[in-house]
Amino acid sequence: MIDHAVEFLRLGRLVAFPTETVYGLGADATNADAIRRIFAAKGRPPTNPLICHVADESMARRYAKSWPQTASAIARHFWPGPVTIVVPKLESIPFEATAGRDTVGLRAPNHALALELLRAFDKPIAGPSANKSNHVSPTTAQHVRDELGQSVDLILDGGPCKVGIESTVIDLSGEIPTILRLGGVTRAQLESVIGRVEIKTGNVSPDSSAASPGQHPRHYAPKTPARRVDPGELRSISAEDRGFILLNPHRAIGPSMLVVILSNDPVPYARDFYAVLRRLDGLSLREIVIEMPPDQPEWAAIRDRIVRATSS
Ligand code: TXA
Ligand code: MG
Repeated sequence: MIDHAVEFLRLGRLVAFPTETVYGLGADATNADAIRRIFAAKGRPPTNPLICHVADESMARRYAKSWPQTASAIARHFWPGPVTIVVPKLESIPFEATAGRDTVGLRAPNHALALELLRAFDKPIAGPSANKSNHVSPTTAQHVRDELGQSVDLILDGGPCKVGIESTVIDLSGEIPTILRLGGVTRAQLESVIGRVEIKTGNVSPDSSAASPGQHPRHYAPKTPARRVDPGELRSISAEDRGFILLNPHRAIGPSMLVVILSNDPVPYARDFYAVLRRLDGLSLREIVIEMPPDQPEWAAIRDRIVRATSS
């Protein structure tokens, strides 16, 4: 199967592959035509750069124009794992992959099948999440089939993703290391390795629902209208035709097939969240109501996804 996948990649075709975070829609990161196919299959805006997956730090360095000590430190501590490092790129990564930027996001995924594929291909694999642009990311091979079906040439099934939300993206191309997207590795974990890290994730804050829409674009979103609520607000919402994603059983809602209670622990919550959102999205509900987890650092990436999923 891996040989087959490598052959497809060499031919410039699309291969969906598992990672520990979400499934990726892969193509040869050095082939501009193959990358255009990714953008077409996803309906992705040409301004949004792709993450390029690598087997390890040494492969990353082959495509980075510079590789600061902070990049080495992060790669050594967290790779393979859910953190993407943005550094200046070399010419072998075409501008199609980076949406015209002179930086590239590199990440070694922590999944045996993905690493086997990367080693066999021996080149980086560009891979956005294997969903239509702005929709919920896929955490199983079946999700990829449901979402992209005919436009993928091959789907490698590596079972359900263990982390369940996307990687943290950290930009090391400027003076101050800056998190551009919260994800599987927390700010505190990064700071324990490289010192102070800033966060610039586009001003998405759970409290800023009145801010301009451009500041928190709808992303990671179901097709069904979705709304986030604090636990206290649940009481006043009728259960009729609604699906609920909750952290605790709330007696006020009453028994319903459409109440899903996720874990109070952010790790299993993240693993299950997209699959549950996708399932509820398939039920033709009037609305999906999501209880906001606590405003604590270990929940920050999940709160970010909930805010984006419920922004209009
Ligand atoms: O966990 C993940 O990161 C998954 C798996 C498949 O690896 N991939 C993923 O890719 O989520 P995608 O394309 O859905 O999200 C990539 C994110 C986007 O927010 C993009 O703007 C950012 O990474 N990104 C990629 N390259 C960048 C660059 N050169 N500069 C700034 N941001 C970049
Ligand atoms: Mg995505």
